[in-house]
Amino acid sequence: MPKPDIYDPAYVKGVFDRCSGKYIAFSYVCSLGFTERWRKQCVAALGLESTGRFSGYDLMAGTGEAWPHLIEQYAHIDRIIAVDISSGMHQRAMDRLHQMRAHKIDFVEDDVLASKLATGSADFIISTFGLKTFNPTQHEQLAQLVANTLRSGGKFSFIEASDPKGWWLRPLYLFYLKAVLPLVERLFLRGAKDFSMIGQYSTNFGNASDFAEMLRRQGLKAEFRKYFFGCATGVVGSKP
Ligand SMILES: C[S@@+](CC[C@H](N)C(=O)[O-])C[C@H]1O[C@@H](n2cnc3c(N)ncnc32)[C@H](O)[C@@H]1O
Repeated sequence: MPKPDIYDPAYVKGVFDRCSGKYIAFSYVCSLGFTERWRKQCVAALGLESTGRFSGYDLMAGTGEAWPHLIEQYAHIDRIIAVDISSGMHQRAMDRLHQMRAHKIDFVEDDVLASKLATGSADFIISTFGLKTFNPTQHEQLAQLVANTLRSGGKFSFIEASDPKGWWLRPLYLFYLKAVLPLVERLFLRGAKDFSMIGQYSTNFGNASDFAEMLRRQGLKAEFRKYFFGCATGVVGSKP
C-alpha cells in the first residue's frame, strides 16, 4: 500500500478527529505540563497594548487551549476567531466553552491553507502547536496568510514543540518523543498510533527559524524565540 501523505490536510484532519477525545489530557500529562506553560508564554509574547479593543485569530485552535490565557492576560480582547480543520477538535472546543467566554469566541471550521481570511482583519494572530503538521511549502502559504490578514501594526505569536539541537539532554528528549510516547499510547490508548504521529511531526518540523524567515520575506518583523532549551520554539512579531 502506498505511504499516505502525512501533510495532506485531509490526513491531518483524520489524525486530530481521532485524537480529539483524549488530546487535552494526553498533551498535558505527556508534556509534563510544559505545553500549558508554553501556551502562556506564547500569549505573553504577543505583547498587546494594555488599552484599546482587539480582535484576532487563533489559528489551528484545536480545543481552544490558548483562549483562557488570552482572556486572562488581555481582558480587553473583544473577539477571538478560532480556526481549525478538525470537526472533532471543534466539537470538543465548543463543549469546553464557558458561558463567560462564549460571547468573545467565534469558531470557523476551515483549512487555513485554503482559507480566505479578510485582508487586514486581525489585530493579532496566535497559534500554539499548529505549525508541525505543515511542510515547508505550506509554511510559506501560512506566512502569506498571516501577512495578508494582519492590519498594519497587528501582532503575532506562534509556538511549536521543536527539536532542541545542541542541547546535551537532546538524546533523552528524542528517546522520550520517539519511544516512550508511542509506548504509552500503545498501552493506554488501545494500540492507536495517532499521538505517535504527533511525535513524528514534531521531529520532522525541526524548529521555527525557517518559518520566521518566511514571515520576514512577507514584509513582517519577526523574531525567532527558544523556549526551554529549544524544546519549543516560536516566532513573535508585527506588521509594520
Ligand atoms: C496539535 S493541535 C494544537 C491545538 C491547540 N492550538 C493547542 O494549543 O493545543 C493542532 C491543530 O491544528 C489543526 N490543523 C491542522 N492542519 C490544519 C489546517 N490545514 N487548517 C486548520 N487547522 C489545522 C488540527 O486539527 C489540530 O486541532
